Amino acid sequence: MAIDLAVVPVAGRGTRLLPLTKSQPKEMLPVGRKPVVQYVVEELVRCGISRILFITGPGKTAIENHFDIDMELIQLLREKGQEELLAELAFEREDVEYFYTRQRRQLGLGHAVLCAEPVVGRQPFVVALGDSIIGLNAQSTVVRLMIEQFQARRAAAVVAFEEVPIEDVVHYGIAKPRDSSSEVFELDDLIEKPEVHEAPSTLAVAARYVFGPAIFDHLRRTPPGKGGEIQLTDAIRSLIAEGGKVLGVRLPPEERRFDIGNFESYFRAFVEFALADPQIGKQLRSHLTQLLH
Ligand code: G1P
Repeated sequence: MAIDLAVVPVAGRGTRLLPLTKSQPKEMLPVGRKPVVQYVVEELVRCGISRILFITGPGKTAIENHFDIDMELIQLLREKGQEELLAELAFEREDVEYFYTRQRRQLGLGHAVLCAEPVVGRQPFVVALGDSIIGLNAQSTVVRLMIEQFQARRAAAVVAFEEVPIEDVVHYGIAKPRDSSSEVFELDDLIEKPEVHEAPSTLAVAARYVFGPAIFDHLRRTPPGKGGEIQLTDAIRSLIAEGGKVLGVRLPPEERRFDIGNFESYFRAFVEFALADPQIGKQLRSHLTQLLH
């Protein structure tokens, strides 16, 4: 059965990006010309996803508005003959069905994914975190590869990983691989935001997952963990402990993850995407070069 459903959690408050995120969802922050979550959706569509379930929360209605078809705006641009601007709204017409459900209490990422269960039921699905872009301009097809691996190897879950500097392990779920030399590997364990000296590797969870429905059974039994939150990482750990096959897939080097969860990586992402802009990238490059000299 083809996997065509993705769950995109967007309920987090984004407190690491205050004051920017006080009344604006972090998933709607601009990176170059588009908001983060539009890149996420475009990446998923390219990987064969045609149904997207957002797990939203307080203050996130701008996301719903963004994916609506805005007939008034379309009409206005038509009347003014601004065809080139109309083309910017093409994403509204992607062949995707959108669903929204709310995480009514802020109990962590694991709990947010569990909120998807009544809609997802017993089918396999993708989870893509709404605050991470994979690859410059989201040109990643890693989710497609993850789905292939999930099906071909009858895995219980597949998780994307990226090598990070050792000092960054404290920000991510970190893999303990069974054999880490290959692009696809089996997981022995997974630890949420370990201290540097506890980290079993420098392979960090990179915001994309494929799950079979058993993850819900584990999430239901997962107690609060790191930071007092119900952690998705802990449910995956429990899946492995009960003999479930969990695979890791490394992001290819040209498909880096842009994490929009903190200012340093957000600023970097914005600059890189702006520099790659086909219309203004060149001028921006010479402006930056001047500034730096
Ligand atoms: C979450 C996960 C973590 C993962 C990260 C990826 O952390 O809990 O395992 O590595 O996303 O972006 P958060 O960013 O919500 O703190």
